Formats: sequence, C-alpha cells, structure tokens
Amino acid sequence: MRTIRTTPQPTTAEPDTVTRVPRGRATARSLTGGDPALREAYRLCRRTTRRHDPGIHALIRLMPAVLRPAGWALWAAASVLDDLADRRDVEPAERARRVEAWTEALRRDLAAGTSTDPVRHALVDTALRWRLDLSGLRGAMIGAREDTRGRSFADWAEWREWSNEGIVPWVDQVRHLFEQVGAPMTLRLERRRDYEHFVNGAQLTDLLTDLGADLAQGLLLLPHEALDARPGAEDDLRARHWSPAVAAVVGEATALARRWLTRPAMTRGMHPGAATVLDTAARLLRAQLDAVDAAGPALLTRSPAPSLAARGRVLVPAHVRSRLAWSLTPLSVPRPLTVPRPRGPVTSREDGQGPVAEATALRPPPPHTEGVRPPRIAADRMPAHVAIIMDGNGRWAEERGLPRSEGHRAGTAAAYEMVYGALEIGLRHLTLYAFSTENWKRDGEEIKTIMEGVRREVDEGPVRELDVRQRWLGRCDRLPEDVVEAIDREERRTRSRTGLILTVCLDYGGRDEVTRAAAALARAARAGDVDPDLIGEDDFARHLPHPDMPDVDLLWRTGDEQRTSNFLPWQAAYAELYFTPHCWPDVDRRDLWQAVAEYGRRRRRFGAAPLISPRRPPEDPGVG
Ligand code: IPE
Ligand code: IPE
Ligand code: MG
Repeated sequence: MRTIRTTPQPTTAEPDTVTRVPRGRATARSLTGGDPALREAYRLCRRTTRRHDPGIHALIRLMPAVLRPAGWALWAAASVLDDLADRRDVEPAERARRVEAWTEALRRDLAAGTSTDPVRHALVDTALRWRLDLSGLRGAMIGAREDTRGRSFADWAEWREWSNEGIVPWVDQVRHLFEQVGAPMTLRLERRRDYEHFVNGAQLTDLLTDLGADLAQGLLLLPHEALDARPGAEDDLRARHWSPAVAAVVGEATALARRWLTRPAMTRGMHPGAATVLDTAARLLRAQLDAVDAAGPALLTRSPAPSLAARGRVLVPAHVRSRLAWSLTPLSVPRPLTVPRPRGPVTSREDGQGPVAEATALRPPPPHTEGVRPPRIAADRMPAHVAIIMDGNGRWAEERGLPRSEGHRAGTAAAYEMVYGALEIGLRHLTLYAFSTENWKRDGEEIKTIMEGVRREVDEGPVRELDVRQRWLGRCDRLPEDVVEAIDREERRTRSRTGLILTVCLDYGGRDEVTRAAAALARAARAGDVDPDLIGEDDFARHLPHPDMPDVDLLWRTGDEQRTSNFLPWQAAYAELYFTPHCWPDVDRRDLWQAVAEYGRRRRRFGAAPLISPRRPPEDPGVG
C-alpha cells in the first residue's frame, strides 16, 4: 500500500479500498456529509478561487463534481500563499514570516487531521480524502517564501526553473486527483517536457496579464535575456512608458508563451475528461494572450481579459465535451485516511528544509549486517555522481545451478546495498543500469522476471522509506504500462526529497537517449526556441531527459567485463572507469566504498597537462 507521507497513516488494518461512485450522484454536498464547518470551508475556497482566478474556476467546473471541492481547496491554498507573499504594504521579512507560519500551521494541521483555519481545513480534508502527498508542495512553499525577497532572472532557463518549482507541484496534485478518481492524466514520460513547457506558458501568460499591476509595485519578473535584447525596454517598463522597445519585449514574450502553450501531443492517450480540462486551459490561456496582444499601451495600467464571447467560444463546447466524457466514466473514490489517535509528537525534519515536512520521519539506511561503518570521505575526493553497470546476475545463478531469474532476484539486494552505502557516505547521485535497450533480445521469461522485480521494488521496496529521490531514465513506450505508471508516481512522490538522487535506467540505451535529445533540439529549433547556429554543448544537454544530471565521475562495472554497453555516453564522456571481477549479487556496500576510495586516488586531468585534484575540472582558459 502506498505511504502517505505528509498525512497520518491510516489506522491499523484499514483496507485500501475504493468506492465506486454511481454516475451523477457524487456532489460536493454528499462529500462533506453532515459537517457544516467543512462545507462552509469548501464554499469559501470556491469563492476565493472564483475571485482570484475566474479562468481556474471555470476549469474546475470541467472536472467531475466529486473532484471540484478538492480543486477549490488546492487553488484557494495556493492563492492564500500568493497573497501572503505578495502584500506590498507589508515588509518582505514579515511577508516571509507569514508564509512560513501558514505552511508550518498546515504541517501541524495535517498531523492533527483538521484545522481551525477554513482554507487549511478544506485542504487537510482534501489531502486525507484523496490521499494526496502534500510533501511535494514543500519546494513550492519554500519558493513562495523566497519570492518575498524579490526575484530576478538572468535568462529564460532560470525563469523556467523558478516557474517549474513554483507551479508544477500544484498541478501535479491535480493530476493525482484525476489518478485517484480513475481517470488518470497519464503523461507519457517523453511528454513531461511538453507538460513543463505548458506550465511555463501558463505562468508567462499570468505574468504578462499582471504586468501593469506588478510594475506599479516595482516588480519586473521578465528575465534579463528578454529585456536586454531591446535596449531601453527595462527603463521604459519601470517608468511604465509604452515604447517600441517595450512593445517588442511584450510581443516576443507573448509569442513565446503561445508557443509553450501549444502542445497538441501532450494530452494524447489521456482520459478524454482529463484531456478536455488541459486542452481547455490551453485555449483559455491563448484567448488571454490575444487580450494581452490587443491591449497595447493599456497593458501597463490594467490587466486585460478576453471578452465574454471569446471565453464562451472556448467554454461552451468544453462543457459539452466534459459532461459527455464524465458521463461515460464510472468514477472511484478511495476510502479516506483517518488520523490515528492517540499519536506521539509530530516529528518535524531537522534539516531546515522547511515547513511542510513529512509527518512521518524518513528512515535512516539499515546498518551493514556485519556492523561495518562507512568510511569518512574527504569532500574533494567524493565523486558527485557514481554510475553502475550491475552485471553478472545470470552467471551468478548459472554457477549455482539456478535459473537466471534467481540471479536477478539476488541482484536486487545488491542494488539496495548500493543505496544504503551511498546514503551513508553522503553521495549525491547514484545511477544504476537495470535494463538496456539491447536486453529485449533476451528470453521472454527472463524479461518478465526482471519487469516483475522492478514493479515489486517500485511498489514495495525499502528505498521508498529512505531519503532518496527516485527517478527513471530510458524509454517508456515498450515497458509495461503499470510499471510506467508506478515509476511515474514514485518520481512525483519523492521529488522533494533532499538526500540521494537515485536514477534507475530502464529500457535505457545511450544512443537512443542521444538520438532523442537531438530530435528534441531539432524540434526546438523548428519552433524558433533555439538558433541552430548558436547551439552549444549546454543546449544539447538541456534537451536530455534529466538535464540536471551531473557528469558521471565514476563508472563502475561488475561481472568481469570491460565495456560500457551503451551506458550514459554523453554523461560519462570523462568518467573514471572501474571494473571489478565479482558478479553483481556478490557485491555489497563495502565494494561501493572501495570504488569511491579508488576514485579518490585517481588523478583527473580533463586534457590539461598539470595534475589536478580528482573532482574539479580545470578553469576555463577563457579563450577569445
Ligand atoms: C545484468 O546481469 C542484469 C541485466 C542485464 C538485466 P546479466 O543478466 O547480464 O548477467 P550475465 O552478464 O549474463 O552474467
Ligand atoms: C549491460 O549488461 C546492461 C545492464 C547491466 C542492465 P549486459 O550484460 O546486457 O551487457 P553486454 O551484453 O555484456 O554488453
Ligand atoms: Mg551481462
């Protein structure tokens, strides 16, 4: 069963059952039962959403009735935080304190299962009812607190990172709601980039809409890259003076938002009801951009809005489509979690990571069975990223007269050992090669065992309880659908964890990855997002599935083979290579520590003549 980390665990033996909702019978009223305070709390959330953002309110109306209160609660909470962070009549430090106090109160309320504050009351009820893991919002809430100090961005890449951190976790909660009700907004992994672009487009549309109001408060959130391209634009904007430079900056930003919002493939394969919500969001936002375009100089004094007729052209057919889609879908509602009582004191994380800490503390890694303690590794001898080719499962089994599948089973324990050992020495990135694009050549039974193992470990494995952010790398179009869904879910559930970043390569091939990145870059060039004449290595790296993955420092292969078998050719271009004779199932965390110690003894040069310390690449000579 899934663990809900920010919310209390269900009382013992509570079955993880779902109730099928007869069509047309689920309403907000029936959900809030006989609790008038809760009903009033949800009503307040609905009013707040409508007042703050009529577009979002309209979109929530496209959701099935049973989900709407949850949509209002999430949006009202986001709006409250926005308001607390944005109150220009209050000092920034005080605003930051208020955001912190609100999120800290939410953490306590989640542990208690209720709240005296109506918006938090509705949000806590939503989290328990729909089994939402609100720890994913932690980063966004920390971001809201940081925003109070003011923001400035060098380029669009920095701007997008801020937008992703602030918005994606909230939208992910909505996606989780759809998943819970049985109409998933499934995003194929390769569509995730489209999804983030879409969210960036929404954020940029919002920014352009509120440009005048923000400027009145001295706030200019466009990146320098956009402003500097048009000399004089920044000064004119700050003076709220409409000039050709300002018109050009606004025109370019509007066009960019429109491109980001035009992602027709994003909703392909999604439940039609969920797809209608996203497609309608895109259409409403584009209508909003039309209003921005049409506003001209008035943009600097008021927030433009599309006409009623323009909104109607989008919303009326959307209502018809969504009603039809939901009427054809039997929805399910999970049994809500309840707060176990009595309970001990709520543990807050002590890592200063912020307020919406996980109510149940993450476990430390179990100690080595022989009590061996981890070595202390000097910071400048510690690789940032270790990648492992876990080879030799089959031979391990054959040597013992066992079927190869037994080797894969035994290999799982070794993979856990690597995670424990990595956590114990404080490694940041560990990447494991679990199944290659070439491994499909194997016998069907062997592949089945491997996939079953992956499914089992993702759903129930001990790594779920550790401070490990899990993510996957590889193709997803050939993996079993339920495996893709499970790994997608774990990726979202653990995304705000701050310990080890564990990347598991599944149906991964380096050439496949490079080819796809090249295709993504070509698409970006065709869309006008990058100039082909200016493409550099960084541009390429940005189009890899995990652009933030650092270069591999140490590439280790077990099983007595000395080749890299299509593993991370881009990231490991300058890795130290390390080969060991033992089959993978015979390896434990001490071997990882030994590998890291060996790495610490290597002298890396990166092409330069003098010997330099292992980690640091030489200074850029700054040619030119
Ligand atoms: C590595 O072990 C695991 C996978 C490729 C899935 P092998 O299965 O390749 O083991 P050997 O190399 O045949 O012994
Ligand atoms: C590499 O091992 C792939 C994984 C460990 C998942 P293989 O055993 O498949 O590689 P080759 O066939 O020896 O190159
Ligand atoms: Mg092998």
